[in-house]
Amino acid sequence: MRIGLVLAAAGLGTRLKSAEPKAFVRLGDQSLIDRALAPFLLRDDLAAAAVAVPDPAAAADLLRHLDPRVRFVQGGADRQASVAAGLAALGEVDLILVHDAARPLVEEATIAAVIEAAAKAGAAVPAVPAHDTIKEIGAEGRVMGTVQRAALVLVQTPQGFRADLLRRAHADAVAAGVRATDDAALVERLGEPVVVVPGRRSNLKITTREDVLIAEAILAARAQSPK
Ligand code: CTP
Ligand code: MG
Repeated sequence: MRIGLVLAAAGLGTRLKSAEPKAFVRLGDQSLIDRALAPFLLRDDLAAAAVAVPDPAAAADLLRHLDPRVRFVQGGADRQASVAAGLAALGEVDLILVHDAARPLVEEATIAAVIEAAAKAGAAVPAVPAHDTIKEIGAEGRVMGTVQRAALVLVQTPQGFRADLLRRAHADAVAAGVRATDDAALVERLGEPVVVVPGRRSNLKITTREDVLIAEAILAARAQSPK
């Protein structure tokens, strides 16, 4: 099975307030892009990786020593457009993984679980239970109600799809003028099944400075006790 990866790395990092685009921020000695790519590149069945960035020429210059399977492409105005640009740059593959550079701590086991489930079901996403109680709020922060937590999960990336299904989902969304914040949502609206596999809380999404501190602590712990 040939696997393609689209890495969404074209965001600006507004909430992180970094000087450079978020995906180029370093955690220790490596950028978020390099860290996010590393466990995928360990796989022999990974045929190609398209990394959507704000400036492909600058990225290729900045991140040297890269694997020949990796190519940088121009990202779009939102995440969905960046993923679409990556899809257009991937050659013929059987299964496509879409991952956010904002999740640099993803582990090989999660990637393997997503691939296995997506190959079987067509589409698979990693998720973790919601531990906090979730409330819906209205005007001026007034609580409108409490959501039933048992049925809720927090969805992460990498998300995996049979290639033809993901391409159809993106094309159909563009035709219908639909924008979504993840790729599974585009498959769901086609009525096609998406299954969940267990994610890990350590596969956190770097959004603010606080998340960088947590990620650094996780990396320090991993350095203490390598797997
Ligand atoms: N992303 C992208 N293209 C965009 C916007 C986002 O490829 N036009 C990517 C980001 O690089 C990130 C992922 O989508 O890896 C999730 O986005 P988010 O966490 O919101 O990152 P940013 O958009 O960079 O952050 P912010 O919203 O704070 O500006
Ligand atoms: Mg964003």
